[in-house]
This record gives sequence, C-alpha cells and structure tokens, in this order.
Amino acid sequence: MPDKKNTLTGFSSMAIHASHTKDPNYAHLTPIYASSTYVFDEAEQGMRRFNGEEKGYIYGRWGSPSTAEAEDKIAALESFGIMNDDGSPLQLKAILHASGMAALSTLLISNLKSGDKILTHFSLYGGSQELVEKVLPPLGIDAVIVDLRDLTTAEAMMKADDKIKMLYLETPANPTLNCVDIEELTKLAKQFNLTVACDNTFATPYLQQPFKYGVDYVFHSTTKFLNGHGTAIGGVLVGKDLEKMNSHVTKIHRLLGSNSNPFDAFLLTMGMKTLEVRMERHCHNAMEVAGILEAHPAISKVNYLGLASHPDYYTAAKQMRHPGAMLSFEMKDGLEAAKIFIDKLQMCIRAVSLGTCDTLLCHPASMTHFSVPKEKRELYGITDGLIRMSVGIENIQDILMDLEQALQ
Ligand SMILES: Cc1ncc(COP(=O)(O)O)c(C=O)c1O
Repeated sequence: MPDKKNTLTGFSSMAIHASHTKDPNYAHLTPIYASSTYVFDEAEQGMRRFNGEEKGYIYGRWGSPSTAEAEDKIAALESFGIMNDDGSPLQLKAILHASGMAALSTLLISNLKSGDKILTHFSLYGGSQELVEKVLPPLGIDAVIVDLRDLTTAEAMMKADDKIKMLYLETPANPTLNCVDIEELTKLAKQFNLTVACDNTFATPYLQQPFKYGVDYVFHSTTKFLNGHGTAIGGVLVGKDLEKMNSHVTKIHRLLGSNSNPFDAFLLTMGMKTLEVRMERHCHNAMEVAGILEAHPAISKVNYLGLASHPDYYTAAKQMRHPGAMLSFEMKDGLEAAKIFIDKLQMCIRAVSLGTCDTLLCHPASMTHFSVPKEKRELYGITDGLIRMSVGIENIQDILMDLEQALQ
C-alpha cells in the first residue's frame, strides 16, 4: 500500500497516522516492544549499529520501536504546518523521557555549564521552580527570575548580564495561567544569542506551537494532555538543531538514564491520536465553567485565559488557538472555604496532575506548590484560597452540577 502520510493536511490525521511504520507481522498498532536488548545477526552488524553505519535498535535505554513512534509523532505535531525560511517543512527531533522533570533536566544539563545563568519568570510549575532555584545554583548555574511579561525588564536583564545563556519560558504557567509573549521574547533573546526553551505542557501543540516563533526547544510533561488519560508519567524534549539533538543531547539523555519505556510510550501514542478532539471539548467545557464561576458569589477571582478579565488575555489570544482547559479560582472565604468545597465534590476528582479526561481539582498552596515559601507563593498569586481545575471532557451539565452543589 502506498504511504500517504506525507500528503496529510489535518492535525488529527497527523496525530493518528504520523510516525507509524508497518509492523513486520501486520499488527494494526505498533506492539509494545517489551525487550531490554536487540539482537545482531552477526558481530559486524552490531559494530555497524554502534558506529552509526546501520540504523537499528541496540539497547532499551537507548530506544525502541515503541518509544520512537511516540517521539516521531510529537515531533510531527510540534512542527505541523511550520515552514523554514526556504519553504521546506521544519524538521524536529523529539526524545522521550521518564517524566517531564527528566526532560527538563536533560535540557538544562545539555545546554548550561557552571558560570552560566538562566533567565526565567516567576510563575513556573513548582518542581521546575525548585530545580532552577535549588538544584542548579550549587552546580554554579544561577537563575535570574523576573516578570517576563515586562519586555523592557526582560531586555534590560539580557543586556546587563552576559552570563545569561538561556531564556526559559512556561506559558501558560501553572497555576495562575500567566502567559508570556513567546514571539517578542524569542526575538529579544536571539539578539543576545540566548538559547530559548518553552514548556508547552498546558497548551499542547494543538493549541500553541512555540517553534513558529523561533524557539530552540519545547518540552512537555507528556503525563498531561498528550497522554490524556492519566495512565503514564512521561516527558519529552523536542529540538530543532538536529545535529545537536542526535549527538550531544541524545548522549546526555542516555547517560542520565532518563529513558521512558515501551509500555508508557504505547499509552502515549494511543492518547495523542485523540488530542485534537479532546482539546476542543476540554476548551469548550473550560469556557463554560469559567463563565459560571466568574459570576458566582462565593468566588472572588477566576484565572482563565478566555476571560477578558485575565491580564494575559491578549497574549494568549495571539499565540493560542483556544484559551486551554486549565483555570484557577479563589474562594472569597479563603482556605477553609476551599477545603469544604473540595471535600464536597462528587464527580470531579480531588487530585493533582492535569490534562486527563476526568475533571481534576487541587489546592496548589498545600499541594503542587507546597515547597514554595508562603511569601513567594503569595507574591506569585498562589493564595491559600486558590483552587486549580483541569477541566475534563465529561458532559458539561454534569461538571456544572457538581461544582454548583459543592459551592452551596
Ligand atoms: C507545566 C508543567 N511542567 C512540568 C511538569 C513536570 O512534569 P512531570 O510530573 O511529568 O515530571 C509539570 C507537572 O505537573 C507541569 O505541570
């Protein structure tokens, strides 16, 4: 059968078909390659595989057909529809990891060295924040943390300190939904020869494609919307410098031992096939929920990028297809009211994580951002009464009914 994948024009068609290679035993789906090592027909073949003369799998930590399919699918989706200046399609390389944090570690270790600094903004996922603020400094890599929504400050920082080598973005950010302008910040960073990396977990490549604006790397916690069903922890690092991705970054990934595994990769591949339809429904439901919550007397503030009241509404509208499935809101009566509300939920799930079919709610101050000191949390907008919600794809009337009874 001729391979029609190169002629596909739609995001879902790519999400379903891209990266699939015909199985030698004619299985419809790529089987889970539960094998830690791969066989050589003869010693010479093993040598050729090691020296790169022959393509082929060698050892499970280095990759398998299951991980390769997930990686190539993510690369196809992050580059979907993006052209290079010469009109050729953008080519990306994705490397699957055991978790989002593992992918972030590879990104940082393969691009920064002692004496370098990383410029980032104050609103990041709690784990990423701890990594840049607590783990990197003893290794000689300091973080410069500013409000990157202020482009003048961002530029001044880049100008003032030539030790800054990387601009690290997370947009929308966890849990306040702060957005930064990827295009403008990347333009600035490139004037100062900085490497630019963007955490695209909240948006997914369906809603936002940072490579359009010239970033060097995108990373995801695939645990979230890409997997979509909450069945596996995972992460991915995607880069456009193919030479560097295939050599230096691949080496760091392998030596850190931060590989994913065939079963999780299979689950991820299955999940990504429905990314577009899930994201459409997630975003539709989130808009409805945000509108209802904003009008509710028990709630003082709703952070949702689809509401004109969000300070980053226009930035989100510029770079995202829809405003996403994540929102957070503040209970008027603070922590006690937040606890009572969360405990009364019947269908919606009390849990951290996000991006699953089920609606998930959590309390960032005591959960995802527990390790961030209170004064810093409050400065970043993570108050004790703040609740984060990952709006699922259940029928909207059931989500609203559950929220309304819990708010009573
Ligand atoms: C935006 C964001 N980035 C990175 C991570 C870390 O990913 P993982 O938990 O898969 O290591 C998370 C986890 O919640 C996240 O929300």
